[in-house]
Amino acid sequence: MVKPCLQVELAGVKLENPLMNASGILGLTSYSLARLAEAGLGALVTKSIGLKPRLGNPNPTVVEVPGGLVNSMGLPNPGLEAFKSELEESLPKIGKPLFVSVFGFSPEEYGEAVKRLDRLPVAGFELNVSCPHMGGVGEIGGSPEALREAVRGARASTGKPLLVKLSPNLTSFAEAARVAEEAGADGIVATNTVRSMVIDLEAERPLLAGVYGGLSGLPLKPVALRCVYEAYEAVKIPIVGCGGIFTWRDAAEYFMAGAVAIQVGTAIAYRGLEVFRDILSGLSAYLEAKGLDDLGGLVGAAHKR
Ligand code: DHB
Repeated sequence: MVKPCLQVELAGVKLENPLMNASGILGLTSYSLARLAEAGLGALVTKSIGLKPRLGNPNPTVVEVPGGLVNSMGLPNPGLEAFKSELEESLPKIGKPLFVSVFGFSPEEYGEAVKRLDRLPVAGFELNVSCPHMGGVGEIGGSPEALREAVRGARASTGKPLLVKLSPNLTSFAEAARVAEEAGADGIVATNTVRSMVIDLEAERPLLAGVYGGLSGLPLKPVALRCVYEAYEAVKIPIVGCGGIFTWRDAAEYFMAGAVAIQVGTAIAYRGLEVFRDILSGLSAYLEAKGLDDLGGLVGAAHKR
């Protein structure tokens, strides 16, 4: 049998394989984007960029919990103009589709950010409307009206694919996915991190300087997987799975729940960039063992009950 084909199409963008990095871990400098590009990914995502530079929260910003991390970086980024110069330098060297993640403190800021970045030769955008602990950014994805306005604004600013990264901290993930689809999104990323906190026992106070943070890694997986499953039944646009993917088995579960591509974040911190080639070879062997030619046979398989 010939080797299974791992190519996928995501919102009209052809990816040589379905693996992406999750926004937030690496992806802010040309150096880290270049390292990701060499790690075998199908597409890349930058860390979230806003209109103005931000230093982010004071330390401590990250704490380890069993199986994962809680982080409260505070959306540090060099601001849109500085980032544009950085990207202009790195894009020719990347040679992979790149999605720019953008955040805003109001729905209008998404349209503005996408408009100012649209001339760059990037594949598309990912709207971070779901940071779990930055007032404004997380609230946008949590309000149907604000979400609609943010996605419509971004839609009006670009003809390129628009992915919308939603929060697992929603009463109805399916409803938010529908709102994003109706407002013009081309894909849903499921999910961002879970709002959480850690207490410092000795100091008797919250450990993170920002008090609240986003939980990622293994504890997030069953939650995000459920969101992918729900979104698959709610919308027609493609879904990108994200949350606690460490191995090819985790990835395969996400495809079965309905994802066409997946993002890996926290596992990079634990397993290094080799995690991507490791997942790819595992997936390839799995498809081969099942006699499948490509990933199409897996996507949504868990819905056929
Ligand atoms: C941050 C942003 C996120 O979207 C997230 O999930 C966790 C942390 C941050 O920059 O603080």
